[in-house]
Amino acid sequence: MEKILVTGGAGFIGSNFIYYMLDAHKDVEILCVDSLSYAGNLATLEPLISNPRFRFFKADIRDRSMMYRLFDNEDIDIVVNFAAESHVDRSIDSPEEFLTTNFIGTSVLLDAFRKFGDGKRFHQVSTDEVYGDLPLDRPDLFFTEDTPIHTSSPYSTSKASADLLCLAYYRTYGVPVTISRCSNNYGRFQYPEKLIPLMISKAMNDEKVPVYGEGLNVRDWLHVLDHCKAIDLIIHKGQVGEVYNIGGHNERANIDVVKTVLRALGKSEDLIEYVTDRPGHDLRYAIDASKIERELGWTPETSFDKGIEETVKWYLENQKWWKDIVSGEYLNNYRRIIGYKD
Ligand SMILES: NC(=O)c1ccc[n+]([C@@H]2O[C@H](COP(=O)([O-])OP(=O)(O)OC[C@H]3O[C@@H](n4cnc5c(N)ncnc54)[C@H](O)[C@@H]3O)[C@@H](O)[C@H]2O)c1
Repeated sequence: MEKILVTGGAGFIGSNFIYYMLDAHKDVEILCVDSLSYAGNLATLEPLISNPRFRFFKADIRDRSMMYRLFDNEDIDIVVNFAAESHVDRSIDSPEEFLTTNFIGTSVLLDAFRKFGDGKRFHQVSTDEVYGDLPLDRPDLFFTEDTPIHTSSPYSTSKASADLLCLAYYRTYGVPVTISRCSNNYGRFQYPEKLIPLMISKAMNDEKVPVYGEGLNVRDWLHVLDHCKAIDLIIHKGQVGEVYNIGGHNERANIDVVKTVLRALGKSEDLIEYVTDRPGHDLRYAIDASKIERELGWTPETSFDKGIEETVKWYLENQKWWKDIVSGEYLNNYRRIIGYKD
């Protein structure tokens, strides 16, 4: 059995990754560490609680003694670090948590990985936001792995700092790190503060859907399952010390994404409400993912239109999942599912 520690596995991408890996590899065992911050929802992982190849640990990656104990007790082969504060708006309101979780937390995991056992790979899940943004009038420009780090928000700065620390641990201590920098993901299990699930949850109730500025900011969108497949390839076939960009060849202005979602829901564009723009709002992200395509044979498989249709259908069919989050009920899920006190 290959033992993989997934941090942040009760969040959006981490949970999708756990389901994908358990399904794709019968010789994989997953340990999930998640502090169950506001963004973590144990209901997402509830069907796995009795799976003998899955174990859940409610723990904070910043808790050094807890992480050392875990790494000392378990023979961990691979770490995939998803755990992070991930919402740009929250990082603007309150940066500290972003710096401690995203940077210090990563440093604790790197130290634990280095000190205990002989793990094969430490994979850091990063973001295209570390490259800053591109002008809207230069569609010929893309981020490559060699594009300089040029961050805009406390979120992207905390992620970029963690990337640099991973590369320093590779260079200084020989820790076998890889890093992936992915564009915007969409799919099931995404917390309804992020653009697509926020639009769906509001429009379904005929509430106004807020769009920053004129909605012209451009993002590249990738189905979460394509991201999971890329990480699987990188941890098993990628070169240590390397960074891999992951992107969907699918750039859309935010307003077009919103209109696509409204169309999929059969709702009117009259629901769109333009609101004051986010400070420092990045204009355009565009990923050149040719390295992972060339070296590891990865390509995105889900088209945006099909992916959005499936995603909208999932949120329609799983309303309890996101309505419990909106109402706050999900905060009781840990006690209900695990059945004991903290
Ligand atoms: N969502 C995207 O579009 C996207 C794109 C590129 C990269 N990423 C990166 O992927 C990773 C996962 O993103 P996501 O969208 O799934 O985020 P998310 O906010 O949905 O999930 C983050 C998870 O981390 C957990 N967590 C937070 N602080 C923790 C701590 N101190 N200790 C342990 N667990 C903690 C939360 O409880 C939550 O379950 C992040 O590192 C993010 O930077 C996300």
